Amino acid sequence: MADAEQNLSRRPRRLRRNAATRALLQETRVTVDDLIWPLFVKDGEGDAEAVPSMPGVRRHTIAGLVGECREASEAGIKAVALFPVTPAELKNDSGTEALNPDCLVLRAVRELKKALPELLVITDVALDPYTTHGHDGVLNAEGTDVANDATVAILAQMAVAHAEAGVDWVAPSDMMDGRVGAIRSALDDARHTGVSILAYSAKYASAFYGPFRDAVGSQSADGAAYIDKRTYQLNPANPRESMVEAALDIEEGADILMVKPAGAYLDILCRMRQLTDLPLAAYQVSGEYAQIHAAAERGWLDLAATRDESLLAIKRAGADLILTYFAKEIALGR
Ligand code: PBG
Repeated sequence: MADAEQNLSRRPRRLRRNAATRALLQETRVTVDDLIWPLFVKDGEGDAEAVPSMPGVRRHTIAGLVGECREASEAGIKAVALFPVTPAELKNDSGTEALNPDCLVLRAVRELKKALPELLVITDVALDPYTTHGHDGVLNAEGTDVANDATVAILAQMAVAHAEAGVDWVAPSDMMDGRVGAIRSALDDARHTGVSILAYSAKYASAFYGPFRDAVGSQSADGAAYIDKRTYQLNPANPRESMVEAALDIEEGADILMVKPAGAYLDILCRMRQLTDLPLAAYQVSGEYAQIHAAAERGWLDLAATRDESLLAIKRAGADLILTYFAKEIALGR
């Protein structure tokens, strides 16, 4: 008796009956305005190189990067985050290339800003693209750990160099103590009061960064994609610790807080949303992107549907902004 219907005071399914009702009642939406597109840039001329563990992602020359960004910008993308692939011969133990005013990422920033002044450009402030050991800072005298204060002093100079090259936001991704405050005061001293700090407040020591380290070549010296960064990145088991980090970044002057990775850390995003009214970003990292692609390649998941749901979940958990390698294809409506 399929159609013997009861009197029910509440039938929540009424509000899911058809597409129009569902659209009217949709609580969360991801729009192109929410997305920040991370890109890899390499030196030299010629073609872009594919990153095998990140299907569809390439390492671009500066000229290629400008072209990609022009297309993305025309499709509505408002912001990009740049990551340099530093040639091995320019790396050393202390990552001195980071302070070279003519280093790859700064040349890329200048070219981009010249070609597309309206496109917001974000750069990472951390030493891992420049150090032979792949850590985000310089090591202590014993070589046993990243030295906090020495690293922070370099990061502050690095942020000023990036501001000088024209970046809109600097994104300290290093997880050193006191770096947001040091960067803010260095920027202000150098009269870059308009440059914002997007702080990687809760960056976890995650295994999901593996493909990124392939992409930028920031593996450890022995080539292992997994580098132990647990003395500075957060323990994936700890939600409360992220609140301590976020509170410090707020106090030190961060403009926007970020949680990273995103998909496996939605509880952290949710808590952070309750902690602060500052804007919140989340980084859907390389491993999250690779997972979706790998399953889709096997025909096990639908790429676009899984991609869209993964981003919706991040937004629903409280992110205002999402860094995602899917940004451009979404903007293009693919
Ligand atoms: C470097 C940095 C990393 C990522 C962004 N900035 C890697 C790391 O901390 O080792 C990862 C991004 C991704 O996996 O997509 N400080």
